[in-house]
Amino acid sequence: MLPNPQLNQHGELQHLLTIEGLPKEVLTHILDTAASFVSVSDREVKKVPLLRGKSVFNLFFENSTRTRTTFEIAAKRLSADVINLNIAASSTSKGESLLDTIDNLTAMQADMFVVRHAQSGAPFLIAKHLRDTGREHVHVVNAGDGRHAHPTQGLLDMYTIRHYKHDFTKLKVAIVGDVLHSRVARSDIHALVTLGVPEVRVIGPHTLLASNLEQMGVRVFTDINQGLKDVDVIIMLRLQNERMNGALLPSAQEYFKSYGLTPERLALAKPDAIVMHPGPMNRGVEIDSAVADGSQAVILPQVTYGIAVRMAVMGILGGS
Ligand code: CP
Repeated sequence: MLPNPQLNQHGELQHLLTIEGLPKEVLTHILDTAASFVSVSDREVKKVPLLRGKSVFNLFFENSTRTRTTFEIAAKRLSADVINLNIAASSTSKGESLLDTIDNLTAMQADMFVVRHAQSGAPFLIAKHLRDTGREHVHVVNAGDGRHAHPTQGLLDMYTIRHYKHDFTKLKVAIVGDVLHSRVARSDIHALVTLGVPEVRVIGPHTLLASNLEQMGVRVFTDINQGLKDVDVIIMLRLQNERMNGALLPSAQEYFKSYGLTPERLALAKPDAIVMHPGPMNRGVEIDSAVADGSQAVILPQVTYGIAVRMAVMGILGGS
């Protein structure tokens, strides 16, 4: 077993499975490569032939709007052939195992798998299987696994922060909400700490905070009014009801009263603070529409930058 299963023996990225353990240089290289795909107008993403002749398989075993679509757009802008496996209509429903599905798609000359799965660790399992069976040339990109990691969301969040705030080493960043069930929070925390953000705060009720947060290098707040004071960046999280076992909160309305981002609470942050959200948003639960649609929100630019960031990741992995 190599020390980091996503790096090859030369320290190059072979798979993107998690941000945890990736060196700062690798993260910065991905962000810089993404910047090279965004044209001067800032909205247009250039088409390039980096993955011409390569096949990218999108395997989304869990629902997605943003990630699946932007991976598809990104692969097409890299000139790859893109295959979106319709999981509901696939032989998974007849009991075919994940690794049998992978073997069959690899037999169709797959070059890259983009995998979203409700089970934490599923993309690691696929990468290990490919290595153990001598097919390590096939790349795996984690598009979100359970509550574990969502590395391309973490990277597009870093791209967005760098775009608006320029220097990671001068920032206070707050992540607010259901941290316990959030793969985005985990990926963001690893990226922010690695990129040198001096103060990363997490804010939420005790029932939605993981136990090891301080060890990850963050400050924990249960009072949102204290936690938001003077921050430069606010990352809001959705309540991930699909991953909750039992009632962890009195009600969505109570949650909004205690932790919803309202204009009054936003005013506690720096006047030029940006508001981010990975989506999907639940308006009136974690965020007020006046904030979500307000001038400080950069939620839709996050989605746009996701295309360039996913191009960068796939181009670095699969480009010759
Ligand atoms: N941010 C995110 O992962 O959104 P989707 O679930 O729509 O892909």
